[in-house]
Amino acid sequence: MSDKKTKEKQPKNIIGVFDSGLGGLTVFKHFLESLPEYNYIYLGDNARLPYGEKSQDTIYEYSLEAMEFLFSRGCNLVIIACNTASAQALRRLQQEYLPKHWPDRRILGVIRPLAEKFANEKLNKIGVIGTKSTIGSKAYEIEIKKLNPKMKVEAISAPLLVPLIEEGWAKKPETKMILKKYLHPLKTKQIGALILGCTHYPYLLKEIKKIMGRRISVLDPGKIIADSLKKYLIEHPELNLKPAKEKTRHYFTTDDPKLFKDLGEKFLEHRITNIEQVKITDF
Ligand code: DGL
Repeated sequence: MSDKKTKEKQPKNIIGVFDSGLGGLTVFKHFLESLPEYNYIYLGDNARLPYGEKSQDTIYEYSLEAMEFLFSRGCNLVIIACNTASAQALRRLQQEYLPKHWPDRRILGVIRPLAEKFANEKLNKIGVIGTKSTIGSKAYEIEIKKLNPKMKVEAISAPLLVPLIEEGWAKKPETKMILKKYLHPLKTKQIGALILGCTHYPYLLKEIKKIMGRRISVLDPGKIIADSLKKYLIEHPELNLKPAKEKTRHYFTTDDPKLFKDLGEKFLEHRITNIEQVKITDF
């Protein structure tokens, strides 16, 4: 178990990536591909997953603890890779928590970059799938309509997919059947593109594309988020994030590191070393 209260007062040239569990690795994979020159800490709150079924207050409280841990470890910037936490906690963290506790650090989410990418496409209607909490928050509709008030949004929650993927059932025929059941209603709504508004769904990307057919564009969100982060880093030199010689990657989980490693390597498509269990409620 990692030492508690290792408080770094100064940022240490590290990008933090936070998710409720392993799903954020589908985003982190693209950071490692597009921006390999930085130091990273990945934190998965596996012990308390899923966030997608929890209340806004609980998601805020958990996310705040995660931020406190990552900033205490010296992260200059944290990306909340989790759609649910981005939808339910990001704004409050940016507006209330950061200015008071870590005014020189920054927190970004995943909804804005995805909304930016799709709101500017020449489409009349777009689909979104996500957890109950993300869809209930209407965060995607709100962001897309800010950028393109004419765009129509059809959003549905697909709550069974996260547990099926976590259980290692992604390739099972039962999962394909459930996926079809969720997606078929969207196919009849004349959407031009589908946003995968949950960290776990890229794991089913091939199958989702197959079901939606050629006319509906389904992109890997991780790539879009990595491109947006690249741009953000260029535009924000004041964050002092510099290419690092040692290029450290450190993984933390609030649950069993072995479980994290086993499934995590499938999400990341890469070996995971340097992994520790941590209790973030102490930060
Ligand atoms: N990471 C969450 C998301 O992207 C999915 C898993 C969960 O419900 O915690 O919404």
